[in-house]
Formats: sequence, structure tokens, C-alpha cells
Amino acid sequence: MRRFTPLTAAALLALLGASFSAHAYDADWKRGRLYYRSVCTTCHTAAPVGAISPSTKTKADWTAYLLTDKHAKGKEAVSKYVSKAYRDSIKDSNKTAAKFADAPDKELMEDIKAFLLKGAKDGDAPASCS
Ligand code: HEC
Repeated sequence: MRRFTPLTAAALLALLGASFSAHAYDADWKRGRLYYRSVCTTCHTAAPVGAISPSTKTKADWTAYLLTDKHAKGKEAVSKYVSKAYRDSIKDSNKTAAKFADAPDKELMEDIKAFLLKGAKDGDAPASCS
């Protein structure tokens, strides 16, 4: 049987570390802010609903909102507007959607969540929508 050398241990640790870091995504609230302001808000200001500032809701409200994943009074999922398919459909007229065309849906959603929580009424930096 092969002996368990320090080198093997180091290799195993490196592997473990790699698999951990592959799962833990470090949300980028600035990317979330850009997306929220250029994609979500663009439609809200055009739609009768009007702009929705992150600071109109608390962190708990936003967390529940995103978890429930219902949008426009439950007509559809909010994740629909974060999806690659949606970005693809507007990328010709929306620079931000084009810029993040290949971003994984989950990561972009984490970014938006990070921005909404930071910008919430009780967040670190209450933010407007534009
Ligand atoms: C294609 C247009 C469009 C896009 C894109 C869009 N929204 Fe909306 N959103 C609406 C409309 C229209 C309403 C109002 C619906 C109503 O009141 O009947 C709304 C309402 C909301 C509301 C108020 C509560 C609710 O669901 O009624 C929140 C919060 C919201 N949107 C978040 C988002 C977020 C976050 C994004 C981006 C990831 C987004 N929206 C993208 C059209 C859009």
C-alpha cells in the first residue's frame, strides 16, 4: 500500500479547497446594482408601476420577495428577468443585459440580492432605484 505522504495530504487539501471555493460564490453587489438599475428599473419606469427603490422595503421583505420568486402580483417569477433567456431577448437594446449575457443565473441573482439587501430601508446604504 502507498504511504500517505505530506505531499498527498497537501494535494488532497488543495482539492478540497478548490471544491469549496467553487461552491461559495462571493456576491458582487455592484454588479447587482448595475443590473437592477439598468434592467429591472428600465422596465418599471416604462411600465405603469414606476421605479421601485430598494429602500422602500426592509432586508426581510426583500429576502422573502426573492425567496417566493413571484413578480408583478404573482403573474410570473422574478427570476425570469434575471435569466439568460431574458437577457438574450433584450441584449440588442440593453447594454447591461449584453454585458452579462453569459453570467450564470444564480450568480446574477446573488448579486441583485446583495444590492437589494445593502440598499434596503434597514440596509447598510439605503438606495434609490436609479
Ligand atoms: C418587463 C418589465 C419588467 C422587468 C424587466 C422587471 N419588472 Fe418588476 N414589475 C413590472 C411590473 C409591470 C410590475 C407591477 C405589476 C403590478 O403591480 O401589477 C412590477 C413589480 C415589481 C415589484 C413590486 C411587487 C410586485 O411583484 O408586484 C418588484 C419588487 C419588482 N417588480 C422587482 C423586479 C426585479 C428585482 C426585477 C429585475 C430582476 C424586475 N422587477 C424586472 C415589470 C418588470
